Amino acid sequence: MAFSKLQKELINTAKYLVVRGKGILPVDEPTGILGSFFKESEAVADTPENRRRHLEILFTSDCSLGNCISGVIFLEQTFVEKTKDGTPFLKLLDHLNILPGIKLDLGITDLAGSQGEKTTKGLDDLPERCRMYKVMGAKFAKWRCVFKIGEQTPSQLAIETNTTLLARYAIICQQNGLVPIVEPEVLCDGDHDLERAKLTSIKVLSAQVKALLDHGVLLEGMLLKCSMIRPGHACETVCTPEQVAEATIEVLTRTIPPAIPGITFLSGGLSEIDATTYLNSINKHPGVNKPWSLTFTFGRALQATVMKIWGGKDEKVAAAQQEFIKRVKANSKASLGNYSSKDEGNGEDDDARKSLFNPEHSY
Ligand code: G3H
Repeated sequence: MAFSKLQKELINTAKYLVVRGKGILPVDEPTGILGSFFKESEAVADTPENRRRHLEILFTSDCSLGNCISGVIFLEQTFVEKTKDGTPFLKLLDHLNILPGIKLDLGITDLAGSQGEKTTKGLDDLPERCRMYKVMGAKFAKWRCVFKIGEQTPSQLAIETNTTLLARYAIICQQNGLVPIVEPEVLCDGDHDLERAKLTSIKVLSAQVKALLDHGVLLEGMLLKCSMIRPGHACETVCTPEQVAEATIEVLTRTIPPAIPGITFLSGGLSEIDATTYLNSINKHPGVNKPWSLTFTFGRALQATVMKIWGGKDEKVAAAQQEFIKRVKANSKASLGNYSSKDEGNGEDDDARKSLFNPEHSY
């Protein structure tokens, strides 16, 4: 297939973002309604200055950050932020060979006509915003829709509405030179078992791929972001990392064409160590062909303990940065299947072992 210049650029960017051993750092928790870290970290108030300080801590943590992180997803409000001494974050990242991305959805809203299901806002002026952020340096974008597993959900209405919405976002991004990260997130809220999570994800992801193809999205020039397949947070049956890996690979091989270069998982309220361990098991899983790069776009599972250690105190910045680099390196290894629990400390009470699930969590 002969690709146009624009398509080649999209393909190269998508490949770059999921090059083996690297993942994506999302720093796109919404402002206004308190971002989850700020909400869960009692010590740090959710102010624009604290958010700027938080990002500066992450981006100045270590000059080797670019060996493990390929891209950062910003909020529209933080895309043009600078360090205290006036260096634009985008310039800092450019020196680390990290690509800037932008969250383009405008948050979750009620899906009219459904029984409490959700859809996502932001399509109306999307072409203009894509063009603007492209000119400002963005290389890729993200849009999230959620699907809740319940007795009657996700409904056909929610699946059709949200997968179509994500496909429309994706083609608009591509037409404007941005690689879309397409995120149909099946939530882990609820007490459903692994089998139900698997069947629902197969239904949602296959509808998603059909919608992408119907809208003419170039699969080679996009990325998928989804959950690792596991039982609901309140399910009594606990699964091993190997079972999560088995289920995740089964779902992906049944639904996702090899033309899509990478799948970047979200952490969905898992503890930091569980998220890393599951990603590692998925990459270690034997016996099947895995044509995609399988890596991380963990939000909470990369930053929760970092935030806690920092707590807004200047004297804690170095320790917070050390923790951040530890998590980033652990996930880089997990994306290659080379992580070992020996990479973590022995402390049973480590914050990194604590579940980050919060039923009110909102992105
Ligand atoms: O869209 C979701 C965020 O980018 C990452 O979410 O905190 O579940 O890893 P997470």
